Amino acid sequence: MQAVKILSTGSYLPPKVLTNFDLEKMVDTTDEWIRTRTGISERHIVEEGVFTSDLAFEAAKIALANAGLKASDIDMIIVATASPDNMYPSTACWVQKKFNIPGIPAFDISAACSGFVYGLSVAASFIESGKYKHILLCGAEVMSKVVNWKDRETCILFGDGAGACIVTKSEDGSSGIISSYLGADGTLGDLLIQPAGGTRMPASHETVDKNLHSVHMEGQEVFKHAVRTMASTGERVLKEAGMTADDVDIYIPHQANMRIVEAACKRVKIPMSKTYSIIHKYGNVPAASIPLTIDDAIRANKIKRGDIVLMTAFGAGFTWGGMVLKW
Ligand code: ACO
Repeated sequence: MQAVKILSTGSYLPPKVLTNFDLEKMVDTTDEWIRTRTGISERHIVEEGVFTSDLAFEAAKIALANAGLKASDIDMIIVATASPDNMYPSTACWVQKKFNIPGIPAFDISAACSGFVYGLSVAASFIESGKYKHILLCGAEVMSKVVNWKDRETCILFGDGAGACIVTKSEDGSSGIISSYLGADGTLGDLLIQPAGGTRMPASHETVDKNLHSVHMEGQEVFKHAVRTMASTGERVLKEAGMTADDVDIYIPHQANMRIVEAACKRVKIPMSKTYSIIHKYGNVPAASIPLTIDDAIRANKIKRGDIVLMTAFGAGFTWGGMVLKW
């Protein structure tokens, strides 16, 4: 077991709520279609002038307070996001500026919905190296700025929000990461992509007119890969931990669609009663989905120290990752 633990968590949702009924007035959809096909009833979205780093900063302040730490105690900042403030500087650097703690390393992780699991693996390695003591890891998204609000197949899925945690050494070894696994398959990158804005397709009048700066997705293909990979990742990390689904106290999946979670649970043989979900109220909040869910579960007394927690994620890239932790 890696003697690395999540010391504390925090989360932040922008106050404005967009319900399925609001979406009925914007695109050709219904509350019933969205709920039955995705499990989503509402999502939070930012007001103008609020950025991904603002949400990450708010969540991070709560995680710090819950750890009883000051900003000056942070040794490194990692932000996992698919909707960064800018291409550069990184969103992590904007968070650093808000805390006014220059000097320490700060960088983003680009692994879409798998970003938090990737970030936690990276943070755990740095903690294990002994060089860093407290790493601030955030998953933060403002997807409302990168979806096409005229595309009913994607705009109904996403929400804004941030989750944060402080990663540190488990001094007494009572909690830690029992197994972890990361994977990716760049050959399938075109199935879920924000086509324009990078060097492949720099911004132009044409890219704006064709809405190429927003999420483009082959929904059914992504769905199939997500189910298969979330399940195989869960099975793999459980096997590496020397455990079965029966040993899991709580399953925290990435939540893109409740039907993906249900299908993955069935394959891994984890009952839905052991699964904690927030998708109905927050939608798919890519890299923020898992940390928001963990924080919500802690506040609902559904995770306590000593519990066996399974996490799995899948997202654009494609990327995926899983972990078994003793909380
Ligand atoms: N309202 C009403 N009807 C709709 C809507 C909508 N919002 N969206 C699509 N439809 C219609 C389609 O046009 C289609 O109509 P047709 O039969 O007349 O052609 C019908 O509903 C069925 O469409 P499907 O695409 O088959 O619907 P499906 O059940 O596959 O659900 C969805 C679509 C929700 C997008 C699903 O495929 C999905 O969740 N995919 C995976 C999403 C995901 O995992 N994303 C990854 C994370 S994002 C990241 O990593 C950044």
